[in-house]
Amino acid sequence: MLIMKTILTGDRPTGKLHIGHYIGSLKNRVKMQNSGKYRTFIMIADQQALTDNARDPEKIRRSLVEVTLDYLAVGIDPAKSTILVQSQIPALTELTSYYLNLVTVSRIERNPTVKAEIQQKHFERSIPAGFFIYPVSQTADITAFKADLVPVGDDQEPMIEQAREIVRSFNTIYQKDILVEPQGVFPPKGFGRLPGLDGNAKMSKSLGNCIYLSDDADTLRQKIMSMYTDPDHIHVSDPGKIDGNMVFTYLDIFDSDKAKVAELKEQYQAGGLGDVKIKRYLNEVLEAELRPIRERRQEFAKDIPAVYDILKKGSEKANEVAEQTLKEVRAAIGVNYFD
Ligand code: TRP
Repeated sequence: MLIMKTILTGDRPTGKLHIGHYIGSLKNRVKMQNSGKYRTFIMIADQQALTDNARDPEKIRRSLVEVTLDYLAVGIDPAKSTILVQSQIPALTELTSYYLNLVTVSRIERNPTVKAEIQQKHFERSIPAGFFIYPVSQTADITAFKADLVPVGDDQEPMIEQAREIVRSFNTIYQKDILVEPQGVFPPKGFGRLPGLDGNAKMSKSLGNCIYLSDDADTLRQKIMSMYTDPDHIHVSDPGKIDGNMVFTYLDIFDSDKAKVAELKEQYQAGGLGDVKIKRYLNEVLEAELRPIRERRQEFAKDIPAVYDILKKGSEKANEVAEQTLKEVRAAIGVNYFD
């Protein structure tokens, strides 16, 4: 019999999800889910979100529902994927405490993603301790479900590496092959990071350059009309630049009609094709992709108690799996005195 591989992936609920999340990960998750080849867990990492939002818990509470609606809207199906809430799985916290002894402070300090985030968030010397150790808590997330595969963005590669190290230490020290060494699954080249509307390398809430999955048709149109193109393309007759032009960057990613995109590029570069025209075309392409998502989202949003129920059921199921792993971990360390 073929043993099914287990997938675990997750998001911090700090806001609604945008089309960068969609193209970089959600779309692929739905595909993996529907292949029927994997046991899939999707975690809403609210505790991790709190590590740098402790003073704004309301944001996390609100985002928990928004993110779940985004999941359901893009086609994550609770009948096929288990959606769980990190804070509702107590075993994760206990696993974290055991793993913390297997990692040094200097090893975490060398984690490039942690380093970058400390800078971005301007923590300076005031790094919340809970934030600092989140790579270890993320190892608990991954190992509690014995995940083989962890589909994440490129920025999460150092987290997977740290998880692998902790797993190896654990299995060596306690001489048990209990924990599974996870593998990261990264987006294909060119799909890792969608640039923002303004041409910034990253679409991000804090930069205010996002298209959200929940944006209505008017908002979508307005955002596309404000997109960064070629600042030197002033008159329609001027030759325009493709490189760094967000409309063409997005068309390359979202338009499956590659011949049409090639033709538009040629016309634009030659001169005679206006920005408004290409933006209208991009709007059609994106609207066709996003309309069904938006409509499904509105449907699910009509029954919020049902959304919470999905999270409750998913967390219950996840708890059983995580508790089992914790039991094995306790036994391996020898803190199962009363068994
Ligand atoms: N750190 C991840 C992010 O910022 C979110 C996350 C938390 C996660 N726990 C996880 C991702 C476990 C994969 C597996 O996006």
